[in-house]
Amino acid sequence: MTDNDFTFGISTLDKLLKPVLEPPSTIVIAGHPGSGKTTFASTICYANALNSKKCLFVSQQEDKQKLYRNMKRLGMDFYALESKGLVKHLSFPISSAVEEIINEISSLVASQDFRVVVIDSVNPLLNAVEGDHAKRAWLQNYFYNLPKTINGVCILVAELPFGSKSIDLGSIEFVADAVLILKHGIKSNLLVRKLEIRKSRSSPISVAEIPFSIVEGRGIELYAPPILEEVAREGPEVDVFCTKLRNIIKHLHKGMTVYISYPPDARPLIYIPMFIGIAVLNDLKIHILSYLYPPDVIKDLIRKSFSQTGISREVVDKIIQDYIKIRSINPFTYSTDELAIRELLMIPNDADIVAFHGIEIFATRNREEYIRSLYNELNYLRNMGKLIIRIGSIANKEIYDINSMLSDVVIRHDVEQIDGEYRYKMYVWRRGEEPHIIKQEELDSCLEELVDLIKRKLIGG
Ligand SMILES: Nc1ncnc2c1ncn2[C@@H]1O[C@H](COP(=O)(O)OP(=O)(O)O)[C@@H](O)[C@H]1O
Ligand SMILES: [Mg+2]
Repeated sequence: MTDNDFTFGISTLDKLLKPVLEPPSTIVIAGHPGSGKTTFASTICYANALNSKKCLFVSQQEDKQKLYRNMKRLGMDFYALESKGLVKHLSFPISSAVEEIINEISSLVASQDFRVVVIDSVNPLLNAVEGDHAKRAWLQNYFYNLPKTINGVCILVAELPFGSKSIDLGSIEFVADAVLILKHGIKSNLLVRKLEIRKSRSSPISVAEIPFSIVEGRGIELYAPPILEEVAREGPEVDVFCTKLRNIIKHLHKGMTVYISYPPDARPLIYIPMFIGIAVLNDLKIHILSYLYPPDVIKDLIRKSFSQTGISREVVDKIIQDYIKIRSINPFTYSTDELAIRELLMIPNDADIVAFHGIEIFATRNREEYIRSLYNELNYLRNMGKLIIRIGSIANKEIYDINSMLSDVVIRHDVEQIDGEYRYKMYVWRRGEEPHIIKQEELDSCLEELVDLIKRKLIGG
């Protein structure tokens, strides 16, 4: 009995492309130098060897020690697998004759049961037969038959010369079940890597380009962009606890987006207990993702926001523990697409409310890209049934307008001076309703209602 369950060693790619690995299969991995071809090929080799499908890795130029050392830093211990006889490395100097290389591979696959063969790269072989039609046909035929011979998967790595825009893989492309093109470039000072799936047999592909990174200790991490073709529907109703707020926005729905904004130099905390009240009333869990502060600072702000209510710190900490998870992320370490995917991966399944804090940080991003990415992320979260809250300063009119335009409820804090004192007022608008202003005194009465609610639900008083 042979086991025909092969893997890419990357779960996102398995989800998208697994059928193309059904043997016999040929995968071409192409890209410019440094794009990650060797790492990608090694990942496939390693993951299958771990599953007891022996892998033969044929390198040109690169010696075994260097390859194994590099892959070890990415979390793959080839030495360990080699000592168990699960991988073998073959290295040829660039000057070797094609026949010599092919003969060596042939005798190895004939004498040992390899199920995966990696050729990194095919360029010297193809170059050597350039212009010799008969030899070229023989080589193509060899590659065509190799996956059948091993009843497995053949990975052909194709090096694209620097600067070449068009991708001419020649005949190699035709024998492939899938062509994966790795691209990399610098965007906004960040290294951006992308995988393009050019061709694939028997897999319905709906994603054209997938961002990925190569991460120390973990290897390749691939992020399938969360793009839904349809506009997602909203989920069930969520009750609003404060009377004044309820009069204006009636109720919320899971899947709605609420945008909360304030002046950058006067940031109120009053909305925090209001939304925690909504969570407590409906028994919803909140996941807070801050672009500005670490979790401890957010926790302190939550405590502070309750300080006027008379609810004890003990009870507030219990609420935080039971209802709230806080994470933070530096958005400048990722490209826009990658950030969206990383954020989604951070959201625990049991979160009902996802609150993004410090969204004004995106004021610097390219507008078109920002809107597209934000729209897709919100649509995806709506489809997951999350109530989305986006919180930030009004850094500029544009960021306010974009976020308002993509939201179902807009809450904007303004400061006004009354008798020499600064007071907040809240501008509230909900889709389908008239906008209203809530005054500070009315906000204070919301807090009194919150105290009652918490006593009833949590303290039992
Ligand atoms: N330990 C590591 N941590 C993070 N990135 C790494 C590490 N090792 C290699 N890389 C990245 O992988 C890239 C090289 O990948 P590689 O698979 O050798 O590319 P190719 O075979 O296409 O030339 C390097 O440019 C480097 O950015
Ligand atoms: Mg390489």
